[in-house]
Amino acid sequence: MFRTHNCGELRLTDAGTEVTLSGWVQAGRDFGGLTFVDLRDRYGITQVVFDSDDDAPLTEQARKLGREWVIQVKGTVRERTNKNPNRPTGDVEILAREMTVLNKSKVPPFTIEDETDGGDDLRMKYRYLDLRRNPLQQNLIFRSKLALAVRSYLAGQHFLEVETPNLIKSTPEGARDFVVPSRLNEGQFYALPQSPQTFKQLLMVAGYDRYFQIVKCFRDEDLRADRQPEFTQIDCEMAFVTQEEVLNTFEGLTRHVFQELKGVDLGKFPRMQYDEAIRRFGSDKPDMRFGMELVELNEVAQNKGFNVFDSAELVVGIRVPGLADLSRKQLDALTEWVKRPQIGAKGLVYVKCNENGSYKSSVDKFFDQEALGTWAASAGATPGDLLLVLSGNDEQTRTQLGNLRLHVAQEYDMIPAGVFKPLWVVDFPLLEWDEEAERFHAMHHPFTSPKREEVDRMLTGDHETMKSLKADAYDLVINGAEIGGGSVRIFDRALQEKNFQLLGFTPEEAEAQFGFLMGAFEYGAPPHAGIAFGFDRLCAVMNGKSSIRDYIAFPKNNQGRDVMIDAPAPIDEKQLRELQLRVTVE
Ligand code: AMO
Repeated sequence: MFRTHNCGELRLTDAGTEVTLSGWVQAGRDFGGLTFVDLRDRYGITQVVFDSDDDAPLTEQARKLGREWVIQVKGTVRERTNKNPNRPTGDVEILAREMTVLNKSKVPPFTIEDETDGGDDLRMKYRYLDLRRNPLQQNLIFRSKLALAVRSYLAGQHFLEVETPNLIKSTPEGARDFVVPSRLNEGQFYALPQSPQTFKQLLMVAGYDRYFQIVKCFRDEDLRADRQPEFTQIDCEMAFVTQEEVLNTFEGLTRHVFQELKGVDLGKFPRMQYDEAIRRFGSDKPDMRFGMELVELNEVAQNKGFNVFDSAELVVGIRVPGLADLSRKQLDALTEWVKRPQIGAKGLVYVKCNENGSYKSSVDKFFDQEALGTWAASAGATPGDLLLVLSGNDEQTRTQLGNLRLHVAQEYDMIPAGVFKPLWVVDFPLLEWDEEAERFHAMHHPFTSPKREEVDRMLTGDHETMKSLKADAYDLVINGAEIGGGSVRIFDRALQEKNFQLLGFTPEEAEAQFGFLMGAFEYGAPPHAGIAFGFDRLCAVMNGKSSIRDYIAFPKNNQGRDVMIDAPAPIDEKQLRELQLRVTVE
């Protein structure tokens, strides 16, 4: 037997017990004739003591142990003289009688401690060592518990977990596909699913009216802290339900897991229409943990001779509470920040509402104190506040200011910690007009239904009408992160064909790619709707983190590489020949 107990469970009540422990050497210390070894496994750390008065050769052997060696120790539990109150096992130690080295270890390239000295790249290369560290273990334990809580809640609601295939044909979710060549079908490729979207709809046609799956999805897109090329969804679909029932069901799931895992009661989730979210926050995923809503200033700021504002469609600002004393340097930094290509503003106007009631702005040449006073009044600013103002085209400017709002809140610590603010964003547009490509994109995905009252307009309306169609599509946002998204689906062939036509598919293309789904709609498809949660994102957000990487056992780096196994990698000639592929790198 390798062990009778784990390294986290022994207590004072076990004193006198003969035990066997196995684990990794966290650290060793010598004190005169005594050698102490901290033995670690995933349950905790237990101190082992070797006493040279008892057994000199064994103690000598213990002195030679290195960090991360794997050992087995037999001995007696006894009370410690100097207790460690910071450890659950801190009242006891094991007086070692026997020790076996199960395996040696090289000196690890970074310390296996809560605060490690290893840089990102090194830790990714030795992920199995990084995963030994307690913070990462806690993350994976959390992930496992969350998956269990999700499964048990949904099973209680009569959902069935059904697996769908990974070798499929493109399911468009707005990213590029990862493709897999088929050896048996020369020159042909599978696509890995960007989501199980079409399959879950087919399961509804098949009568499995409540489906879920905790499932890997694959998207070839640019990576960010909250995006991985393969990630996990809690994917769900229901038949014979309205949008209202979907929202209530998954609000229930979300509240349940927050209660279960965090002890937090999220209460009833507020809802906000997409248009309102954009207007008030410049974002379709507003962070509701703080204010600083967008305030339109056209009326008070235009026609005062400042051409930049006069020629703009929109002049809009945010009131930043208490930041009137920002330095020139800090304001310049904010200006530079909005001028970066990722944000794309031309400049930033500020107004400081000084404590003495006067105003100082970057546009004093054009606006006197009285004029600036009207801005402040419009924005509800009081002495000590700072106004930050952008101008330009309505949509872009709101987005830019929405980004600045977030940046300022983060930069100046205005986001309360440990708070969770969920929000349903509803009534998304059905289609999004791409000015450059001169075509429509599906705002959610091509299977999303317009609102029922919009169907006639969609079937008969002109081009402009299409831009204003609203969909039964919704997102779940928590603390400004898009945690989930879904929609009521089209379940009628004619409407689905119309949608593909609007999205620029010829009837032949639509048939070739999605004929199977439209065909299924002709065999008694029930009304259905669903949602998918980003499981990795949910893990991160529930723990107040923005990066999902630390909640994934073996993630990819920012170039989409797994640096530990060194993938992707070239394949050999024989494999290429079998697949009828030739690689030419230009
Ligand atoms: P959507 O594309 O909105 O919807 O995806 C659902 C949720 O998945 C998460 N997510 C990601 N997480 C990590 N890395 C990524 N690259 C990534 N991409 C998306 C987000 C997102 O809200 N089939 C539809 C759902 C439906 O209509 O039922 C879908 O996939 O949290």
